[in-house]
Amino acid sequence: MTRHFTDVDDLTHAELADVLTRAEDLKERTRRGKAHPELAGSSLAMIFEKPSTRTRISFETGMTQLGGHALFLGPDDIQLGHGEPVKDTARAISRYVDCVMGRMFDHSDVTELAEYATVPVINGLTDDAHPCQTLADLLTVRERVGLDASVAWVGDGNNVCQSFIKGAAMTDIDLTVATPDGYGPDPVVVDRAAALGGAPTLTNDPETAVESADIVYTDVWVSMGQEDERAEKLAAFEGFQVDTDLLGDRTLMHCLPAHRGEEVTDAVLESDNAAVWQQAENRLHAQKGLLTFLL
Ligand code: CP
Ligand code: NVA
Repeated sequence: MTRHFTDVDDLTHAELADVLTRAEDLKERTRRGKAHPELAGSSLAMIFEKPSTRTRISFETGMTQLGGHALFLGPDDIQLGHGEPVKDTARAISRYVDCVMGRMFDHSDVTELAEYATVPVINGLTDDAHPCQTLADLLTVRERVGLDASVAWVGDGNNVCQSFIKGAAMTDIDLTVATPDGYGPDPVVVDRAAALGGAPTLTNDPETAVESADIVYTDVWVSMGQEDERAEKLAAFEGFQVDTDLLGDRTLMHCLPAHRGEEVTDAVLESDNAAVWQQAENRLHAQKGLLTFLL
């Protein structure tokens, strides 16, 4: 059966642990300069409907380091951007490559890719989920504190938060999510987390959320595709900025890109408490672990 990674819970708890172990091993081998061409001859198609720095570069270099090859397919590069249906794209592309990664707006487009593709499909971010980010986040939490850390999410409860909720539920992370009213995670995700191992505590108060936290995690207030909601969102998120006072001596996580002066201050991002570059690096290792697992 072809396995996909449309969200974190496409993996079992044991498979998630396996992917993280692979990632750690590959990180060590990469650091020691040891060749690891485990996917020699394999190709990954990368479909991007939205811009990307980390996802694109970590997947592309990751495939090269594994001995394979990645194709960048932006909206103007393939017929998908000119009206060819997702299901036709999925079936044609599967005849050429060994794996497909899609960064799309609608989550249903990634699940449709997975439904019609005959090779593994990886979600590289949708409006609802960012599971590759969660793999790197779990690796980072494990390296910094351990997977029994207490984490406070402060900010928007959308894609990055929702996948992290599932990742926390599948490990021993104790998670509190602080969002403004109306910007919390989808109740379906919270219920799913409960079934996976534990729902997060939800609050509208950032100060209470961080009280017993080892780590404070935030993300942009205006996600890609939400540019029209900018004024409304900036007003709604007032009081949710992670600054020196709120962070204290806790570790800062941010999936990046960061909008300094909105969800975080320059001071906290540039402080020694920021784990954000480690997190960004871990995208590479986590996705290589995932690719070797899926392929
Ligand atoms: N965190 C993340 O996915 O970054 P990019 O948008 O740069 O890929
Ligand atoms: N929530 C952000 C994450 C970017 C990696 C967005 O969707 O734009």
